[in-house]
Amino acid sequence: MAFTVAIDGPAAAGKGTIGKAVAAHFGFAHLDTGLLYRAVARHMLDGTDPIVAARGLRTEDLDTEGLRTPEVARAASRVAAMPEVRRALVDFQRAFARRGGGAVLDGRDIGTVICPEAEVKLFVTATDAVRAGRRHRELVGTGHEVSLEEVAQDLRQRDARDSARADAPLRPADDAVVLDTSKLDIDAAVARAIDIIGRARG
Ligand code: DC
Repeated sequence: MAFTVAIDGPAAAGKGTIGKAVAAHFGFAHLDTGLLYRAVARHMLDGTDPIVAARGLRTEDLDTEGLRTPEVARAASRVAAMPEVRRALVDFQRAFARRGGGAVLDGRDIGTVICPEAEVKLFVTATDAVRAGRRHRELVGTGHEVSLEEVAQDLRQRDARDSARADAPLRPADDAVVLDTSKLDIDAAVARAIDIIGRARG
């Protein structure tokens, strides 16, 4: 039976970590949809037309190394504003969302556009300062030399672009539960999400 958990929110709010943990808890499949846009962006940076890249995207492309860099994130936000790119990625995401056995998708437009019929919709957010601090620690931890101010500026620009675009902008669905993780550690945020999903499952 299909059971979809849609998790949306701005960059570095904790969507991916929460998505992965709740999927493991309930035995659902998990798709980080940001990786689709990052993989298209990687192809664009390598010289391929982003629309062609999106139409030809293969699941192996999501395993490519180096998709988590700030450069790719910036480019992903740019290709994500192209309606043809978004359109090319819809069917794959919808099929994933409605597969049997349950699915968790995290992104920006899952509850609003990809799967408005999702059984659970979470909008995960945190203050700008908390998100910048988390992403900065993550990047430094993986060997990137970048200042906190650069990371903060990057997030601001990306969120502004993701929220202002005409096609599928970042916003909470009307029926989403907002989960502010500013003052929660990972375990507490995951516990809160598990509680919300468990109730919806009945
Ligand atoms: O979640 P992320 O940081 O990996 O996403 C990278 C970019 O991809 C983000 O800036 C906006 C875009 N994106 C999107 O437009 N829609 C989604 N469902 C997921 C990501």
